[in-house]
Amino acid sequence: SKSYNIAVLPGDGTGPEVVIEGKKVLSAAAQKFGFKLNYEEFDFGGDRYLRTGEVLPDTASDQLSKFDSIFLGAIGHPDVKPGILEKGILLRLRFELDQYINLRPVKLYPGVPTPLKDKGPEHIDYVVVRENTGGLYTGTGGFTMKGTPDEVAIQSMVYNRKQVERCLKFAFDYTKKRNRKNTLALCGKTNVLTYVYDLWERAFHELGAKDYPEINRDYYHVDATCMWMVKNPEWFDVIVTGNMFGDIITDLGAITQGGMGIAAGGNINPEGVSMFEPIGGSAPKYTGKNVINPLAAIASGAMMLDHLGEEEAALAIEAAIMDVTANKLKDMGAGRMGYSTTEVGDLVAERV
Ligand code: IPM
Ligand code: MN
Repeated sequence: SKSYNIAVLPGDGTGPEVVIEGKKVLSAAAQKFGFKLNYEEFDFGGDRYLRTGEVLPDTASDQLSKFDSIFLGAIGHPDVKPGILEKGILLRLRFELDQYINLRPVKLYPGVPTPLKDKGPEHIDYVVVRENTGGLYTGTGGFTMKGTPDEVAIQSMVYNRKQVERCLKFAFDYTKKRNRKNTLALCGKTNVLTYVYDLWERAFHELGAKDYPEINRDYYHVDATCMWMVKNPEWFDVIVTGNMFGDIITDLGAITQGGMGIAAGGNINPEGVSMFEPIGGSAPKYTGKNVINPLAAIASGAMMLDHLGEEEAALAIEAAIMDVTANKLKDMGAGRMGYSTTEVGDLVAERV
């Protein structure tokens, strides 16, 4: 039978708790569908940094690239200055492993409360393809005359055509495979960022016309995208966008699907090793209380199985999650689910 080697990075705060539930459900799926998962844990995160002074060993990406996939809990520690771990671990791994896609489904499961008026699961079901290794996240920058009244800070948004094209190609292929509305929307800001999003827009229409004539192409400015994600989310099928806009609109998307307790994502390198993670943070104040919602981690695990080619197992986990949200959980928030973290993991695992 097939077997997969999974690197597990439980990380900080409530990360380890949700990772345990994720592994519980993944193992149930492996048993049911006849494959094997071999886990190896890595302790990258805030505690290790505070203990050793090292954010991430230089060998980390090399080590991790030998696995079939990476399963991550959360990075972020209350005793470490914001930015150090996020940039030094999470972003560094994304960049070094060239995970150039951040795939973030925005899907409202049955029974999950949404802040969007009169909207249900039939309206909120689309996917954001966020470019994950370029743009403002990796453009050069710096200060001049730091600390003086004449100080200047620069942070540049840089994209080259190859970066843009590989992301667009993934998005078109994904839209085609998804086969729902066959509509890919580019989210940009061509009216102000007239260089970067001009490049995106030209590449989008050129590639679409040439290789994907069957896929409809839409364009929205990022500000309008936010508006329509609230007012008419049913318009969307797949949205593709740059790194910074993708970061912002996927938090908006997450809250419309019930919040960070349920929002899953994958950092994908289609030619290499990918890393799956709940899109929320480490929620340190809930650490050890057994109240955090593990569904985002569990759903990220399902995305990982889908990516590994275990599509049936992924669908079974998704169906189990939906049964639990529809019939069991009262709310998605920490401490408001009506069940503990462990119990939610058990509920989903039983159903798988
Ligand atoms: C995310 C997070 C990260 C990002 C942070 C923690 C660096 O917000 O995964 O969306 O900005 O990409
Ligand atoms: Mn974010």
